[in-house]
Amino acid sequence: MSALGQLGAGIAHEVKNPLTSIRGYAQMGQRKLPHDHPLNEYSRTIEKETDRSLEILKNLLRFSRQETAEMTLIDLNAVVADTVKLVSHQLMMKEVRVDPRLWTQALHINGNANQMEQVLLNLCINAGDAMEGKGGGTITVTTDVVNGNVARIRVADTGSGIPPEIVKKIFDPFFTTKPVGKGTGLGLSVSYGIVKDHKGEIGVESKVGEGTTFTIRIPFAAPAAEAAPAAAPARERRVRVINLR
Ligand SMILES: Nc1ncnc2c1ncn2[C@@H]1O[C@H](COP(=O)(O)OP(=O)(O)OP(=O)(O)O)[C@@H](O)[C@H]1O
Ligand SMILES: [Mg+2]
Repeated sequence: MSALGQLGAGIAHEVKNPLTSIRGYAQMGQRKLPHDHPLNEYSRTIEKETDRSLEILKNLLRFSRQETAEMTLIDLNAVVADTVKLVSHQLMMKEVRVDPRLWTQALHINGNANQMEQVLLNLCINAGDAMEGKGGGTITVTTDVVNGNVARIRVADTGSGIPPEIVKKIFDPFFTTKPVGKGTGLGLSVSYGIVKDHKGEIGVESKVGEGTTFTIRIPFAAPAAEAAPAAAPARERRVRVINLR
């Protein structure tokens, strides 16, 4: 684990518990006070701000634990399909439409479904944020195959675009252009790390005012040894609990 990762995990671990009790006491205080008491507002602010701090810690923990994932044979296409379904509802409320254009066959890679889902969520949430100022738009999620042996995912939005001087920094940890409380600047750096762990690449193309496309390329899993039935893991039903922000 990197020094930053260790520091992050250490701080997050130590600070989470006292923050959680501050939050609990603030909630208890609210329950004891009459509804219209002026102290209620202070108490709600304490609760809101501790929530925000806990969210940042959650991101730090995610950032520092990214290398512990177990890799198995997964169908990347199914992961994309599941995730798109998941975000579509949430984004609809922001007037954002998600348009999936998925490869018709399974895309078998050696990977971790939860982590790849996290990457896609990060990209889709960013895309949604980038379209908020425009009053909505479309995210087109495409999966296909490059050179017969590489799975490709593209997430294209019709949002604000990213200026060239900023695009160089977007994968840096803690780089954000979002207001305090909205972004921690970890989404893309976490995603970059996950894609690298999958022996893949992530890149971006963007035009200010028109939109942004993120492209991920991950090599297919090596052909399975004769002893292992290659198709079996792809048919497994995955049950996951996802914490959408
Ligand atoms: N689709 C996009 N369109 C425009 N800008 C983007 C897009 N995706 C990322 N960015 C820019 O890259 C920055 C870094 O993104 P990243 O996901 O790492 O952090 P964040 O979204 O700001 O915070 P977090 O993901 O931790 O909540 C964003 O603040 C934004 O400026
Ligand atoms: Mg983000």
